[in-house]
Amino acid sequence: MPSVEYTKKTAIVYYSWSGTTGSFANKLAHDSDADLYRVKDRRRPDILKALLKGCPEARKRMPIETEEPLPDLWRYEKVIFCVPVWAGYPAPAFNNMIAALPQGRTVELYMISASGSTVKSQEETKALVTARGCDVLVYQDIFAADVDVKFKSVKF
Ligand SMILES: Cc1cc2nc3c(=O)[nH]c(=O)nc-3n(C[C@H](O)[C@H](O)[C@H](O)COP(=O)(O)O)c2cc1C
Repeated sequence: MPSVEYTKKTAIVYYSWSGTTGSFANKLAHDSDADLYRVKDRRRPDILKALLKGCPEARKRMPIETEEPLPDLWRYEKVIFCVPVWAGYPAPAFNNMIAALPQGRTVELYMISASGSTVKSQEETKALVTARGCDVLVYQDIFAADVDVKFKSVKF
């Protein structure tokens, strides 16, 4: 688990389908002063839909339909995205996060997966951030099994 000091100018934005990324993000927020935001599906897909529709959409870097607009990230210097990995790529909600990323921010990316690996998508994912005029300070693959689920404080 990363242990970094975050200023109040930090936003943590996450998406979670089954709770693990939510636990990870809640723990980061708990250990810091950062503001925490959750991106939610307008309608949460079931597992079949996540596999048959969500995975191809992750590979194609497509966004989701969200319940609410994403938070305004303009007042934050640092933005932390926490996302589950689907089919080797960040889950589609990551593409909504990228679209909401203001220019010139420092960005940390945490990819939560069963395998702890995003080799096939990692470079392209970082390039999406730099294309927004932002710097990737941290890119870290996190093993889902290492996430402390006691921070699963919200229902998924
Ligand atoms: C639709 C779907 C696709 C997944 N694809 C991968 C994958 O390609 N590689 C991997 O390591 N884990 C994969 N996983 C496992 C998740 O990345 C892992 O369980 C993650 O912790 C789930 O986070 P969440 O509980 O916040 O949704 C997949 C899970 C789902 C639901």
